[in-house]
Amino acid sequence: MPSSTEKDTFLSDRICTGAMLVVGGRGFRFKVQREGQLWPAFVVRHSSGVAAYINRCSHLALELDWSQGTFFDIDKASIICSTHGALYEAVTGECIGGPCAGKPLETIQVTENDRFILLTDRNYWLVYDSPEKNIFSENPK
Ligand code: FES
Repeated sequence: MPSSTEKDTFLSDRICTGAMLVVGGRGFRFKVQREGQLWPAFVVRHSSGVAAYINRCSHLALELDWSQGTFFDIDKASIICSTHGALYEAVTGECIGGPCAGKPLETIQVTENDRFILLTDRNYWLVYDSPEKNIFSENPK
């Protein structure tokens, strides 16, 4: 039986449910904190799993999505920046064309269990706007 501290840590690693993401579909936006700074982030489902990135183009420090959660190009395999069209490989975040000029997206390590997409990257903490917004908590405050 996990202690309450271990359980809270586990609950706080839940980004979204796996069912919320479909291959090439809308991504899920979330926020992370690293070294005291808040970063917008997103997770998408691609042909071989899920991937999460800081929501910041490597061309200019702007968020990528066309409208909130829309990250994929028309091919549904590449992530495209809505500002100038930089193209990134969805599985790795590698720049594959346009003004990103070889600079990749910043990756956030995640994994998927039978129900949830979980943050596994120990460089980041998930941030919720308020405890009530942690919709995946079994005991929302
Ligand atoms: S800001 Fe993304 S391509 Fe220019």
